[in-house]
Amino acid sequence: MEAIEDRGGPAQPLLAVKGLVKHFPLKGGLFGRTQAVVRAVDGLEFDVLKGETLGIVGESGCGKSTTARLLMRLMDPNAGTMIFDGEGVGENEQAGGLTLRDYRRQVQMVFQDSYASLNPRLTIEETIAFAPRIHGLSGEKAVTRARELLAAVGLAPANFALRYPHELSGGQRQRINIARALALRPKLVILDEPVSALDKSVEAQVLNLLVDLKAEFGLTYVFISHDLNVVQYISDRVLVMYLGEVVEMGPVDAIYERAGHPYTRALLDSRPSMDPAFRRTKPPLTGDPPNPVNPPSGCRFRTRCPYAEAVCAERKPLMANLGDGHIVSCHMASAGSGHSKAGRLYEVPPPRAEMVA
Ligand SMILES: Nc1ncnc2c1ncn2[C@@H]1O[C@H](COP(=O)(O)OP(=O)(O)OP(=O)(O)O)[C@@H](O)[C@H]1O
Ligand code: SF4
Ligand SMILES: [Mg+2]
Repeated sequence: MEAIEDRGGPAQPLLAVKGLVKHFPLKGGLFGRTQAVVRAVDGLEFDVLKGETLGIVGESGCGKSTTARLLMRLMDPNAGTMIFDGEGVGENEQAGGLTLRDYRRQVQMVFQDSYASLNPRLTIEETIAFAPRIHGLSGEKAVTRARELLAAVGLAPANFALRYPHELSGGQRQRINIARALALRPKLVILDEPVSALDKSVEAQVLNLLVDLKAEFGLTYVFISHDLNVVQYISDRVLVMYLGEVVEMGPVDAIYERAGHPYTRALLDSRPSMDPAFRRTKPPLTGDPPNPVNPPSGCRFRTRCPYAEAVCAERKPLMANLGDGHIVSCHMASAGSGHSKAGRLYEVPPPRAEMVA
C-alpha cells in the first residue's frame, strides 16, 4: 500500500513520453463511417523529471486535456510509449513492464470541475477513503488516512469528515479532490486546470497548498493551465503546445524571459498588462487556432506566424536545442533550414502588438 521506492535514481525521468498520438475519428453520414480525424495529440515527446512541476500551456483545443487523459491512461493512445521510472506502462509484466493497474495507483489526477468529480452521496471521509479501501486497506486504516489527508489539505477533520460535497465551497471541494488524489500515495499528480474555476483569492490559497503538499509528500506534478501567470508561478519547466504538438519547452525562466518560438512570444505578449500605459491596440495573436481536423502542413503555426516562409509550409521544423534544456521547433532556430532567418531566431523582434501610451 505504501509508495514504491524510487527505482532508477533521481536522474532517471519519472515519466518519459515518446511519439504519443491520439486521433479521434469523427463519424457521420448514413452508415456512421469515419468522415475525418481530429489530430488532438500528434507525436508528443517529453520527460517529466522526478520532483519537478512541469507546466503545460497552450490555447483552448490544443490538446492539453487529451494529453492529461493519455498520461493518466484514461484512454489508450493510437501510438507512442510511456516509460514510468524505467518500466514500460501497460507492457508485459514478465518483460519488465508495469501493468495499467499498478501504474494508475502511482499516477493520480485532479480536474477543473470540483463538483462533477465528487460523488454527492458520499461523505467527504468516505470519498477520500474509497480508493485506499478498494486497494486493500482496512476500513479503519482508510478512514485514518482520509482524516490525515483532510488535515493536510487544511480542512479540520472534526468539521469536515462527515459533510457532503454540496455543503462545501468550490475551494473546499477542490481541496477534497486534492486529498482524494493523494490517498493512494501517488508519485505523479496530473492537475488539469485545477484552479481555473476558483476566485482569485481562493486560487492563490490552493496554489500554495499544492506547493506545500508537493514538498510534504515528495510529489511530481504535471500542471496544465491556460493561465500563463499561474504556470510561471508554479512550474520548474514549461511545455508549450500548439495543435497537438510541442513547439517549445524549457526551464521556466528560459520560456518567460527568452522565449524563442513566435507562438510562445505571442502568447506571452497577449497577457493582459497591469500597467495602463501599456494598453495594446491589437492583440499579437489573432484568429482562432486552425482546426486539428485539418492542421496546416509543415509548421502548424504558419497560418498565424508573421515570419512564415515557403519552407514553413514544405517541411515540419526540427526540434532545435537552445542550450540548458531549452528546445524549440521553428525553422528560424535551425541553421541551414532554408528560412531566410535560419539560425537568427533572436534577431527577429517578437510579434508584438503596437503599444500605446
Ligand atoms: N472524445 C473526443 N472526441 C472527438 N474530439 C475530441 C474528443 N476530446 C477532445 N477532442 C478534440 O480534440 C482537441 C483537443 O481537445 P482538448 O480537450 O485536449 O483541448 P484543451 O487544450 O484541453 O482545451 P481547453 O483549454 O479548452 O480545455 C479539440 O479539437 C477537441 O474538440
Ligand atoms: S517554422 Fe516558420 S511558420 Fe513556424 S514558427 Fe517558425 S517561422 Fe513561423
Ligand atoms: Mg482542457
